[in-house]
Amino acid sequence: MMRSRFSLLLISCSLLMCIFVGVCHGGELRKKFYKESCPLAEDIVKNITWTRVANNVTLPSKLLRMHFHDCFVRGCDGSVLIDSTSNNPAEKEAVPNLTLGGFDVIEEAKTQLEKTCPGVVSCADILALAARDAVSFQFNKSMWEVLTGRRDGRISRQSDALANLPTPFFNFTALKQSFSSKGLTVTDLVVLSGGHTIGIGHCNFFSNRLYNFTGKGDQDPSLNSTYAATLKSQCKTLTDNTTFVPMDPGTFLSFDANYYKVLKLNQGLFQSDAALLTNKGASNIVDELASSNKFFTEFAQSIKRMGAIEVLTGSVGEIRKKCVERFTTDMNAHKVVVTGRIEEQKLLKKLRKKTGKRVEIIIHDDKKKKKKKKEGGDNNNNGDDIGGSSKDGNTAMVHDQYCCRESEAIFMMFSDENPNACSIV
Ligand SMILES: *[C@@H]1O[C@H](CO)[C@@H](O)[C@H](O)[C@H]1NC(C)=O
Ligand SMILES: *[C@@H]1O[C@H](CO)[C@@H](O)[C@H](O)[C@H]1NC(C)=O
Ligand SMILES: *[C@@H]1O[C@H](CO)[C@@H](O)[C@H](O)[C@H]1NC(C)=O
Ligand SMILES: *[C@@H]1O[C@H](CO)[C@@H](O)[C@H](O)[C@H]1NC(C)=O
Ligand SMILES: *[C@@H]1O[C@H](CO)[C@@H](O)[C@H](O)[C@H]1NC(C)=O
Ligand SMILES: *[C@@H]1O[C@H](CO)[C@@H](O)[C@H](O)[C@H]1NC(C)=O
Ligand SMILES: *[C@@H]1O[C@H](CO)[C@@H](O)[C@H](O)[C@H]1NC(C)=O
Ligand SMILES: *[C@@H]1O[C@H](CO)[C@@H](O)[C@H](O)[C@H]1NC(C)=O
Repeated sequence: MMRSRFSLLLISCSLLMCIFVGVCHGGELRKKFYKESCPLAEDIVKNITWTRVANNVTLPSKLLRMHFHDCFVRGCDGSVLIDSTSNNPAEKEAVPNLTLGGFDVIEEAKTQLEKTCPGVVSCADILALAARDAVSFQFNKSMWEVLTGRRDGRISRQSDALANLPTPFFNFTALKQSFSSKGLTVTDLVVLSGGHTIGIGHCNFFSNRLYNFTGKGDQDPSLNSTYAATLKSQCKTLTDNTTFVPMDPGTFLSFDANYYKVLKLNQGLFQSDAALLTNKGASNIVDELASSNKFFTEFAQSIKRMGAIEVLTGSVGEIRKKCVERFTTDMNAHKVVVTGRIEEQKLLKKLRKKTGKRVEIIIHDDKKKKKKKKEGGDNNNNGDDIGGSSKDGNTAMVHDQYCCRESEAIFMMFSDENPNACSIV
């Protein structure tokens, strides 16, 4: 008796502590964190984002989802931006350019900010601001407040992404659990799902609902059959991973509450959308959002909470010099080109070990790119060492060190990217 009461007490204590710690972390973000240190920071991000969005309608959904995924994996710490590419064509194909466009905006803002106030504004904040600004562009005003003061992390792991990101295939229980593990409520879940009001989804994330829902060649009975027929005419096979459709048909470029109306017609594209109708509480919120004009104010609150997930503040983390860190390897020229900050000695050591060759750093003056060029002592071995086994070659090594495939895993969950990207490297 005593004992069980005691452990109950312990449990409630630790729960309290979690809540307390959580609040503390989020609490360190504040309004206009850069007011003194970089007064133009928010204007610069907005200017650049608006200029880019004015020319590219796909950016709002890209940046919004990038922010979402950043926050769900290791907190809003900019780690989603730690990206890797190699000049392996298959991989380039696997990461469609449309997606990389979002990264460019962040990097452009960062470059401008480093000129204006070097080393001050974090990538995580830039991403949070850019996501807000991109969505806000069509309204010519800021749609929600972004607290700032986030600092950047350096760890970006595919396994973290896989473990933390909800997928388009999640049912309500799994969605609720995923959001709750980040301190978010069912209301947040329903409201943030409204982000699907903009953007596209690739067929392979929902074709199972059209062609093989329970493995018997059947259709998902919860999917509107008229809509299913339309989708079938666009997504012709279970494995089509190139075709995409709007997530919110009709108004997929407009940030609005139409998503909830579509949902109520059983036209939610993904299982994770349809799942919101399978729970009484959630479906009441859907009704409310569909019939009132509360979506914008609710979204403003939920995304603010999301933007505070496990943030690094104070003296934790760092302010990265570059946001998008990228590697390209040139197998034939035996070169690894690294843009961004790297741990030089570690990389050199690994390269030497892998290749058994002399490795040196070549600084690229104009753009301060660093090139590592392996100077082959014995030309005959070059092919074998580097080209012969791509698993042990440069690409693998670079990935190894920076655990850079998060971004691809991320896209997989993004519902608008190719799930096979990961298997290609
Ligand atoms: C933003 O853009 C406007 C118009 O292009 C310009 O006048 C203004 O100086 C810019 N602000 C900043 C902070 O870059
Ligand atoms: C689509 O899937 C096929 C077969 O699974 C794969 O070979 C191809 O690379 C994928 N397409 C893209 C763009 O990744
Ligand atoms: C995608 O990028 C590749 C190289 O980075 C380029 O050759 C290609 O034209 C781009 N495709 C589109 C549609 O922009
Ligand atoms: C939108 O951005 C992507 C990625 O940066 C780019 O490939 C595409 O050409 C852009 N579209 C327009 C209309 O500029
Ligand atoms: C956007 O807002 C600004 C300031 O709030 C205003 O001066 C400008 O005219 C607006 N632009 C449009 C196109 O409505
Ligand atoms: C939801 O999905 C999880 C994981 O796939 C599964 O274990 C669970 O049974 C599902 N719940 C319902 C109610 O379908
Ligand atoms: C449908 O799913 C079942 C069970 O997973 C599988 O055996 C079957 O091959 C699938 N059908 C098609 C056309 O892929
Ligand atoms: C299916 O969608 C159509 C509009 O395309 C709508 O009229 C109908 O009511 C929907 N059916 C259900 C069961 O939601």
